[in-house]
Amino acid sequence: MTQDELKQTVAREAIRYVVDDAWIGVGSGTTAHFFIDELARIKHRIRGAVSSSVKSSERLKSHGIDVEELNNVDDLPVYIDGADEVTQWGAMIKGGGGALTREKIVAAVGRRFVCIADASKLVPVLGAFPLPVEVIPMARSYVAREMVRLGGQPVWRMGFTTDNGNVILDVAGLAIEEPVAMETKINQIAGVVTVGLFAHRGADVILIGTDRGVKTLTPPG
Ligand code: A5P
Repeated sequence: MTQDELKQTVAREAIRYVVDDAWIGVGSGTTAHFFIDELARIKHRIRGAVSSSVKSSERLKSHGIDVEELNNVDDLPVYIDGADEVTQWGAMIKGGGGALTREKIVAAVGRRFVCIADASKLVPVLGAFPLPVEVIPMARSYVAREMVRLGGQPVWRMGFTTDNGNVILDVAGLAIEEPVAMETKINQIAGVVTVGLFAHRGADVILIGTDRGVKTLTPPG
């Protein structure tokens, strides 16, 4: 199967986790887009969606799915999103598409995080994929120096502005053995809006698309 077919397979499987008559949290990226297309088939069963990016909102609306502001939603039973890397313990690197801040906010509200990914995303240790860090523009050089102090090689994602008007540093060379501690450390650097490490609030369910079908992992809470 191609990578896209694997993404489509997990997207289809994720529909099983959608709660009827409730809001659904929807992530960003190509796997999430496949999920949105599957969601369109059962849109009559849900109240609508809370989205983590402008692009996902547009895709949801193009299918006639209501998109509600997070501030107006007090209960979000499930949040479904892809990842750039995920461990069997549920820690993830996200933000390859640059939507990490809104993803982290919607994920924080979601009671259950279902991560959908093709098999190439499942890794023993996070960090081969450069870690995205969203930064206030005036803090870019300072945060980059701090990332070097942590052992990383930051690269400014040139020509890219997040939905929140900020910039992204992609930090290569970090072998993230302790994702929770690393997330805390990077969060404390002045000027960092969001680090694309999702470890404090990791995935509750991981659906991995493989050539032999979908593998379901449920990291211990
Ligand atoms: C978007 O900012 C990301 O967090 C995506 O969830 C992540 O990059 C996975 O994207 P794909 O599904 O396109 O691989």
